Amino acid sequence: SSVFTADPSAATEEFGIDEKAVSYSGFQVWSITVRSNGEHKLLRQIIEQYDVEVWKEQKTDKAAITELLVAPQVQRVLKVKLTEADISYGIKINDLHTVIDNGNAKHNMSSLNTKTGHSMDWTKYHRLADIYGYLNYLASTYPSRVELINIGTSYEKRPLYVVRIFNRSSSVVKPAVWIDGGIHAREWISPALATYIIRQLVEVPANEALLCNVDWFIMPVMNPDGYEYSHAFNRLWRKTRSVTSWTSCRGVDPNRNFGYKWGGLGTSTNPCSDVYKGTRAFSEPETFATSNFIKGKASSIKLYLTLHSYGQAALIPWGYNVVYPSDYSDMLELAKSAVSKFTKYRYRVGNAAAIYYPAAGGSDDWAKSIGIKYSYTFELSDTGAYGFLLPASNILPVCQDFFPALDVFAAKVATMK
Ligand code: ARG
Ligand code: ZN
Repeated sequence: SSVFTADPSAATEEFGIDEKAVSYSGFQVWSITVRSNGEHKLLRQIIEQYDVEVWKEQKTDKAAITELLVAPQVQRVLKVKLTEADISYGIKINDLHTVIDNGNAKHNMSSLNTKTGHSMDWTKYHRLADIYGYLNYLASTYPSRVELINIGTSYEKRPLYVVRIFNRSSSVVKPAVWIDGGIHAREWISPALATYIIRQLVEVPANEALLCNVDWFIMPVMNPDGYEYSHAFNRLWRKTRSVTSWTSCRGVDPNRNFGYKWGGLGTSTNPCSDVYKGTRAFSEPETFATSNFIKGKASSIKLYLTLHSYGQAALIPWGYNVVYPSDYSDMLELAKSAVSKFTKYRYRVGNAAAIYYPAAGGSDDWAKSIGIKYSYTFELSDTGAYGFLLPASNILPVCQDFFPALDVFAAKVATMK
């Protein structure tokens, strides 16, 4: 079996990119709370006018909290504009560059741990080669319960892997859970949790009961090109890496590229936007391969779970607009009982469009649309102190807190033959 070696210099040769890493020196993250529609409109205008990047927007009954990435050259004017509008703001991160450097000491492929037989652990964020190396290690070490499925290749020709975890000796078709991570490149906690879940299900005997009545399909890195790019060149890269236009901007937002209500609210036709929807639904090899694989298993997959960050929320379809499926209360009930297992972190639960923002073409909506009854987007930690730059010391706490929720999901899915 071949392991893709994710070496940035190799990528440079192969794709002719001659890129220097992007620096975020002097960039800040601001948090702005508005308490009326009027204020919200004003804020939106300012954001648009100065082309500021929105990191998160969360709504409650009384307020909307918007977190922004603010480049050094607009900090002064933004401050003036907000003060004029009487909108208060706080600086959550003072110098992004420092946080990026402290978050995950620069490293490439880790060396092989001779004790474990692979180079994976959950004390730091790993390069793709470590992750794929671990998947290959598991498949060859535990053939009785692991199948490594290559479902296609990314735009830059990296393999797309789904790990099937099941009891190979049992011949009945069981209801299944799907979990994916790494749709968005910079949300590093997501592949970290997905690989942690894989490890728990495969390598920890105490969790064997979770395989009795349920099969698991786990895709830890749906957007491997973006993931590698976020490690090697731009820590805040979100999209795929495809070339789609004559602009120099690359990449499509995979979570605006799925084929349900594609191109609706919260999406962009601008190839330079971070929420660019692409030229058509499933234009990206990553979303195309993933959706085809899921469709082929749609009769057995009962629960679709996609891992993102940040905000600590369980988001329920529909996300394209504030619209509720007819069985929304079932979905809400299961999500609530899952997050009730968390002891360290509190999660909000609700309709995606209502408690975040409307955004069409999401994978969760698409999964729901093809008949997968339970479909959720989990926005993992934190709530904004570090945002996408969650320090590696948080990986284990987040993973350990999350894992018990799978008991709840598995128990429900087991009843859904
Ligand atoms: N943070 C995610 C995004 O912006 C939330 C997606 C929620 N689901 C949805 N269909 N809008 O992509
Ligand atoms: Zn995301």
